[in-house]
Amino acid sequence: MSKTQSLQFARHLHPAPLPADQRAALLKNPGFGRVFTDHMVTVRYHESQGWHDAKIEPRAPIPMDPAAAVLHYAQEIFEGLKAYRTADGGATLFRPEENARRFQQSAERLAMPVLPESVFLEACDLLVSTDRAWIPDGDGSLYLRPFMFANEIFLGVKPSSDYLFLVIASSVGAYFKTSAPAVSVWVSPDYTRAAPGGTGAAKCGGNYAASLLAQAEATKHGCDQVVFLDAVERRWVEELGGMNIFFVFDDGSMVTPPLGGTILPGITRSSLLTLARDKGIAVREERYSIQQWKADAASGRLREAFACGTAAVVTPIGTVRAPDGEFTIGNGGSGARTEELKSILVGIQRGKDADPHNWIHKVF
Ligand code: PLP
Ligand code: COI
Repeated sequence: MSKTQSLQFARHLHPAPLPADQRAALLKNPGFGRVFTDHMVTVRYHESQGWHDAKIEPRAPIPMDPAAAVLHYAQEIFEGLKAYRTADGGATLFRPEENARRFQQSAERLAMPVLPESVFLEACDLLVSTDRAWIPDGDGSLYLRPFMFANEIFLGVKPSSDYLFLVIASSVGAYFKTSAPAVSVWVSPDYTRAAPGGTGAAKCGGNYAASLLAQAEATKHGCDQVVFLDAVERRWVEELGGMNIFFVFDDGSMVTPPLGGTILPGITRSSLLTLARDKGIAVREERYSIQQWKADAASGRLREAFACGTAAVVTPIGTVRAPDGEFTIGNGGSGARTEELKSILVGIQRGKDADPHNWIHKVF
């Protein structure tokens, strides 16, 4: 099948979707990732049939054989993107083609079949339009989680012959629970996220499994997120457990670590690079060490730092904690540049402002 071919999706709509009053109660304060909609999309793949059996159906547990390959060798990839409610009652997605392409790249790295971009997009559109009542108002959004896993019943170590692709949706508010003006990060002294030649640039479940102990350590030290250093020299700042990072300097310039195979190529990261350059801001994709970060925070050369990603949007970083002490960035809260870039990005994402780069995909 070509990368652009589309499939016919069968529609098995929920006979008893959640009543409106119960849904409204859940949407009041959904948090992140615990409130799910009525439906899910599934598409099957078998090496002898290609992609087939595309459908939308009531969200339900998936029957799986205990020998399904993913349960043993973690051959799994996923994506994350948000649908927003617009003032005219419609719904939009932000750059979903980029998620579709990254999903293809993740699939290639994990020796999985490549899902046509059109099938990825159609699956997302179908779920958003079917479960449109679940898109929260205000600052909330509908977080889509497309994912694919190895479903062959076989304990030999090889790429599976059988896969299931699904899209589920979760009504979400802010990712971070903290009411503080900025988040704190823990510099992991013992663990790294990705090594050269590894899977750091792929969005695969295994990367997150490997980050959990470091994230738990961050929580133990009172921090919201872990920040990883490179695996070779253990000095270059790479990214957080689930988001990319930017630094803002006193001369107005910005730095973000370069993509080199060990960092997830974030779509928010790439959008912010474009938006900053649109404004004439000098942004460098350049390595930045933890020692320099500490020195620049102390001297005042570093004014702001922020995390960015679909779940986190743009979140200021106020405190950096490490085994040998901690330091504060600026006044420990948010900064003007962080707020400015966030507001430009969110204005485009939510359809409040012009979309000069054609990033908005209208679902309905
Ligand atoms: N880095 C990691 C490890 C992530 O999990 C994410 C979230 O998807 C990001 C960066 C940001 O990527 P994006 O902006 O595409 O959501
Ligand atoms: C996302 O931002 O979509 C992610 O996958 C990151 C995770 C922390 C939820």
